[in-house]
Amino acid sequence: MSSEEKGGGATVLRWSLLKLLVSALAAALFFWAIDALCITANASTASTFSFVAITISSADKPSLPPSKPADAPKLSSWISVPAAPSFTSTLVSRWLAPGGQPCRDSRTTDIAVPELDQERIVELPCGESHEFVISALDDGGRPRCLGGDYFETDLSGSSWKSRPPMVDHGNGSYSFKLQVHPDFVGEYNLSIVLLFRSFEGLKLSPERFKFRREMRRIPIRFYRSNALLPPLHICRGGTGSADFSKEVWSGRWTRHAKNDTCTVDDEGRYRCLGPSILCPKPWCDGQLSALESNGWVYSAHCSFRIFTQDLAWKCLKNKWLFFWGDSNHVDTIRNMLNFVLGRGDIESVPRRFDMNFTNPDNDSETVRITNIFNGHWNVSSNYLGLQSLRNEGFRGLVLDFLRGSRAPDVMVFNSGLHDGIYWRSIRAFAEGAEYAAKFWEQVMRDVKHEGNAAVPRIFYRTTIATGGYARDLAFNPSKMEAFNGIFLEKLKEKGLITGGVIDEFDMTFPWHYDNRCNDGVHYGRKPAKTQWRDGEVGHQYFVDLMLVHVLLNAICNE
Ligand SMILES: *[C@@H]1O[C@H](CO)[C@@H](O)[C@H](O)[C@H]1NC(C)=O
Ligand SMILES: *[C@@H]1O[C@H](CO)[C@@H](O)[C@H](O)[C@H]1NC(C)=O
Ligand SMILES: *[C@@H]1O[C@H](CO)[C@@H](O)[C@H](O)[C@H]1NC(C)=O
Ligand SMILES: *[C@@H]1O[C@H](CO)[C@@H](O)[C@H](O)[C@H]1NC(C)=O
Ligand SMILES: *[C@@H]1O[C@H](CO)[C@@H](O)[C@H](O)[C@H]1NC(C)=O
Ligand SMILES: *[C@@H]1O[C@H](CO)[C@@H](O)[C@H](O)[C@H]1NC(C)=O
Repeated sequence: MSSEEKGGGATVLRWSLLKLLVSALAAALFFWAIDALCITANASTASTFSFVAITISSADKPSLPPSKPADAPKLSSWISVPAAPSFTSTLVSRWLAPGGQPCRDSRTTDIAVPELDQERIVELPCGESHEFVISALDDGGRPRCLGGDYFETDLSGSSWKSRPPMVDHGNGSYSFKLQVHPDFVGEYNLSIVLLFRSFEGLKLSPERFKFRREMRRIPIRFYRSNALLPPLHICRGGTGSADFSKEVWSGRWTRHAKNDTCTVDDEGRYRCLGPSILCPKPWCDGQLSALESNGWVYSAHCSFRIFTQDLAWKCLKNKWLFFWGDSNHVDTIRNMLNFVLGRGDIESVPRRFDMNFTNPDNDSETVRITNIFNGHWNVSSNYLGLQSLRNEGFRGLVLDFLRGSRAPDVMVFNSGLHDGIYWRSIRAFAEGAEYAAKFWEQVMRDVKHEGNAAVPRIFYRTTIATGGYARDLAFNPSKMEAFNGIFLEKLKEKGLITGGVIDEFDMTFPWHYDNRCNDGVHYGRKPAKTQWRDGEVGHQYFVDLMLVHVLLNAICNE
């Protein structure tokens, strides 16, 4: 199945494949795609819900046959966030938009979601994409006409968690899309939280501006329909692959097993499922239990292989991985060594190091990992972020690694939480990001001029969505999402994103409402059977472990 989707014409090929599928529905060849069909649409139920606005993004719109029998499967497409052209300038100009009229100067205290508010019971067909509009209202119930409100959206059922992507139209109206795959028919809640208003999350000290109010919690039943979604393939990370070039992901966590009696064990581990529990296709490939997630797994526009120790070493041996970012990298690297590479003996790794690690099962296999913490040029300080590159000694430290005859094979960047605390405004951050991008552009130019050094594949790993109490702080999700977009745009403008994007923000978002899977600012803290932030004993670290596997997919699935 996978080879059909290779290369630039992926979308076109995917759709021609699907059209083929529809016309040859009986073809047992495609049994697992057909598995995903639900063809038991109940006509009377469907007609009751004609209010639903169904949108298929025009770019992906397949040319449907002009007439088809009532029960024929209907081709739909996955919801997807398009790349925002001029992300930084659009954001800055909206942030600077002058007031002067009541609808601009007022503040949002309520919302209207007409198509959902009018229904007593909301029922939607699965598979399809449903678009809804939010109007921001002032305290007199009048529509506002400026954007900048930051909504957190959550669509959750017992086996599905996703963040419906939200679009700010800049005029007081916002739109979002809901979609649930046909395999996950059932009861859901849509929750819409207004976290910050009028770009106030971007302030240097936003805490006292937090609004953090649940504006809606709407039960929704997703029912069977005849919609068909393209099957996901395993993400490919090679040069020229479209999979990791997607800038903003809109994935979901799905659950495929559950042990109701599972608890964190004496070692702090969350081992709930036996090794025989495998991933059901197409949601992942490999041993589901290895994630220690009690059955949850993340997938996006493509899905991920769960690596075994053997497979990971086959790929990583002789490679040099170079990380530059915040302390979440430190956790991710340790988790990769502990959980995947068989190096449970490594208790911790420092913020700044350069080491070779050997496969405990085969001492002729080693990997070199370098990590440079970028929260401050002083490795024991914090909260300087990208500004740390203004320090000559720090630039020299980074450069020394890249001056030799061999360059890293893979580099993973992020900007990080420290920027949230340092920069006075998004405009100031944009300047800092521009400086950082120019620095790396020069470094890569030098690497190329070295001649004999192969140029590294560079990935941008977006900064996490901070969790629980940290949602209100200087590195809140509203600011981090903006910073992610700005820095990524700057790096792309300089041609630096040669590997792609790993959207950790989207991956962490469904788990950021409390501190069960994070301590506010890290999702991969070491397992420990001690009291956690939320008062319970132990915590769940699987979100970072999932990231480890996503990284391995990016590095290894060439
Ligand atoms: C806001 O902008 C969107 C997108 O341009 C447009 O579709 C919508 O009609 C506008 N809404 C209002 C209330 O002006
Ligand atoms: C929806 O939210 C309500 C209230 O918090 C909760 O009782 C219910 O279990 C939730 N339903 C689902 C499907 O998650
Ligand atoms: C469920 O998890 C517990 C540990 O918390 C374990 O002892 C038990 O064997 C697990 N059950 C199954 C069916 O895997
Ligand atoms: C790691 O191994 C490489 C050779 O593969 C060697 O050049 C380098 O010095 C080693 N680094 C460390 C820190 O041991
Ligand atoms: C150890 O690794 C080397 C290099 O990858 C490989 O050639 C060799 O077959 C491995 N040995 C075993 C016993 O797997
Ligand atoms: C780095 O920071 C630590 C702790 O803040 C401080 O003690 C140390 O002097 C600093 N080092 C340099 C070189 O400034």
